[in-house]
Amino acid sequence: MKHNIPIKRVEKSKVEELDFNNIPLGRTFTDHMFICDYENGQWNNPRVEPLHLIPTHPAAMALHYGQAIFEGMKATVDSEGIPMLFRPQKNAKRLNLSADRMGMPHFPEDLFVEGLKQLVAVEQSWIPPQEGSALYLRPFMYADEPFIGMRAATSFKFIIIASPSGPFFTKRIKLYAETKYIRAAEGGTGEAKAAGNYAAAIRPTELAKAKGYDQVLWLDAAEHKYIQEVGTMNIFFKIDGKFITPKRDGAILDGITRMSVIDLLRDKGYEVIERPITIDEISEASKKGTLEESFGTGTAVGIAYIQEIGFGDETIHVSDESPVGLDVNETLNGIKTGKIKDTFNWMVKIE
Ligand code: COI
Repeated sequence: MKHNIPIKRVEKSKVEELDFNNIPLGRTFTDHMFICDYENGQWNNPRVEPLHLIPTHPAAMALHYGQAIFEGMKATVDSEGIPMLFRPQKNAKRLNLSADRMGMPHFPEDLFVEGLKQLVAVEQSWIPPQEGSALYLRPFMYADEPFIGMRAATSFKFIIIASPSGPFFTKRIKLYAETKYIRAAEGGTGEAKAAGNYAAAIRPTELAKAKGYDQVLWLDAAEHKYIQEVGTMNIFFKIDGKFITPKRDGAILDGITRMSVIDLLRDKGYEVIERPITIDEISEASKKGTLEESFGTGTAVGIAYIQEIGFGDETIHVSDESPVGLDVNETLNGIKTGKIKDTFNWMVKIE
């Protein structure tokens, strides 16, 4: 369906103020935003406007009951400067999965993609051309109905904002396997990209950082034994030449970088097994010398190479090098910048 999305532009862009060689994620925002309102059972008035504050009633239900979900994705440019989105339909689908779990309305998938395209077309000059950098896009939906009481809201906003970003982790990372706090339990909201999942992870992450770690390695809720994911990423291990990654069980985020890395590894000839993985198994493999490498995958971070894991009194040494992780990262970045042929048909050009 073709959507009419009116565009109101800023008088003067702020892009000249941006230092493209120094863009930490999430600090700078582009000139415009996409916004759409949900009322009376339907989405109305999609539009691109200058980025502005969103007036919020103090009783807006998202503030009290947490009906808030989001997506993370990136726009890049190919060698001719044509902007491209990475698998945007996957994000559209995942947003609606999150919406289902959180009692929120679906956002039409074609409007999701069209809104992204219109916004990115307007913000083209903000897309950093360097490999590993991108225009991070943050679609999100929240309940803005003013109401005190526990039920699904009846009015929502769907917004997309954009923030240019450079590479995230520039060093190998250390993980803290968390045995007190949990991220997600069976039947919970772990698979949804719900704001509350991230809120509950903040305190344990701060505690892990205070101990000298970069991110938390989340273990299952029942036994603190099975590995789920890491910080804001999914996780892969290479043991004895094969890759393993935790099997999705409703508590693990269905990462779009995760699914793409599985495809890339298989394409490169590696066996990739999705199955339950225990922290003890990783410790054993490290001791036996069969743990060859490990990395996290996520939209914001890309691929983050793991050096070691703190687990109780133990330090599990992972590896000092990640040759396959580096190779996969290079391929992924190459596809995202048009330097490597997109044989998977992942990229959606905005022309
Ligand atoms: C992403 O990787 O896009 C995320 O949503 C993580 C975010 C907390 C930076």
